[in-house]
Amino acid sequence: MAATQEETFKKIVAHCKEYGFVFPSSEIYDGLGAVYDYGQNGVEMKNNIKQYWWNAMTRMHENIVGIDAAIFMHPTTWKASGHVDAFNDPLIDNRDSKKRYRADVLIEDQLGKIEEKIQKEVDKARKRFGDSFDERMFRQTNPRVQEHQTKWDALHERYSKAMNEMNLEELKQIILDEGIVCPISGTRNWTDVRQFNLMFATEMGSTADGAMKVYLRPETAQGIFVNFLNVQKTGRMKVPFGIAQIGKAFRNEIVARQFIFRMREFEQMEMQFFVRPGEELRWFDYWKDQRLRWHKALGLGDEKYRFHDHEKLAHYANAATDIEFQMPFGFKEVEGIHSRTNFDLSQHAKYSGKKIEYFDPELNESYTPYVIETSIGVDRMFLSVLCSAYKEEQLEGGDSRVVLSLPPVLAPFKCCVMPLVKKDGLPEKAREIMRMLQLDFRTGYDEKDSIGKRYRRQDAIGTPFCITVDHDTLGDNCVTVRYRDTMQQDRVSIDTLHGMIRSAVDAKPLYEKCLQ
Ligand code: GAP
Repeated sequence: MAATQEETFKKIVAHCKEYGFVFPSSEIYDGLGAVYDYGQNGVEMKNNIKQYWWNAMTRMHENIVGIDAAIFMHPTTWKASGHVDAFNDPLIDNRDSKKRYRADVLIEDQLGKIEEKIQKEVDKARKRFGDSFDERMFRQTNPRVQEHQTKWDALHERYSKAMNEMNLEELKQIILDEGIVCPISGTRNWTDVRQFNLMFATEMGSTADGAMKVYLRPETAQGIFVNFLNVQKTGRMKVPFGIAQIGKAFRNEIVARQFIFRMREFEQMEMQFFVRPGEELRWFDYWKDQRLRWHKALGLGDEKYRFHDHEKLAHYANAATDIEFQMPFGFKEVEGIHSRTNFDLSQHAKYSGKKIEYFDPELNESYTPYVIETSIGVDRMFLSVLCSAYKEEQLEGGDSRVVLSLPPVLAPFKCCVMPLVKKDGLPEKAREIMRMLQLDFRTGYDEKDSIGKRYRRQDAIGTPFCITVDHDTLGDNCVTVRYRDTMQQDRVSIDTLHGMIRSAVDAKPLYEKCLQ
């Protein structure tokens, strides 16, 4: 029987640990909630993702440069950006279990349950009607689906309104009206809903008046905004131009779920693109298109992406969309693209008392540029790549394997060299080939266990090529190359290895797809 999505996801999490991709943080002390460490293979893949993003942004756009700002920033930054006053989650406690929940997540779970009921009806009907099944028609006409959909629409509308107005009493009332119970105690004995700020605070230095309260940045974007003038002036940048940054961000997430999807310490890749006022919506469309191309160029499957346009916008935004990816637990946000007007630069000008403007030589006037932001979580990107690459395959002869069909450009190891046996000069020859390849590619070496077991180990970490050195190699200078996805084998000359691997792992065709 096929595994459910939930079972598959559990297997992916276990696989990440078993094969050195992701470990729970400080595991010997039983871990730390929603904090994870990347292992020896995870860090390679994560670096490859960052490299792919960084090059696509900075190398492929002559008007985008990068920075690396500090995690600590002057505390007024967060007053200006609105994070001190408005970066809150609505929380509710269950008096019996003493457990704390995000009120919005409880309601979203309730919406999810209704969606599941609809999906069950659809799946049942698909089985019944087979190839002739018209899902759209079924959803529009089936009375049970219609009933669930009406319920979903009403709840969603009420919930969205309450969230937009941050109406805490209404959020609690929805939880009561929907009969939502605490998953631990099973009761409806809820407290009122309260606001909870997501920023981590700590203290810096020590003065006679006490230490200064500083925050761990909850997004990297503000490090870009406060450096707008520095970069524009020293880089002689002309609007439109962008500033890109990769770095850690911290949020005291109350409901930490789905592995590395929602973490308390995570990494963002953000780019702020500064444009003339009035031109922002054209650039917003440009960046929507660019970013989707970047994702799709990896070849994970075009059907796994969709845009989710925001209907209700933050007060400073005039357009916003998410790029969602089909995870085993549904379509989920991986990247946000926001048209943030001139809100951030204006706020920093106001709070710092400095003039933050750009003199446009073509228009012969000064203005505060408008901003299009693209913001993607490295960890969510990592998870989406891993989930789509994970495959369990049944092989001929009753055997099976787990393979990560990773895009070669992101694979932790590009190839692994293996002597057939640990004697007769084969290890020496294999190491010689490894040393030649490692100048250009992350190359593994493995001489332990049977060749079959070694192939399985490399499949499990997504290595595209295994290169086996046998006795004939010493005479004919040829090796056996075994391909990860097809498991086919070819006898090739050692001289051709470099070119073959280069063409498979090269990022160039991906960048070309982004630029089309
Ligand atoms: N500067 C805009 C900003 O930070 P966001 O939608 O809050 O916007 C952007 O975050 C991206 O950062 C998300 O699309 C997601 O990929 C990632 N992200 C946000 N919170 C996260 C968390 N707790 N754990 C992992 N990734 C997170």
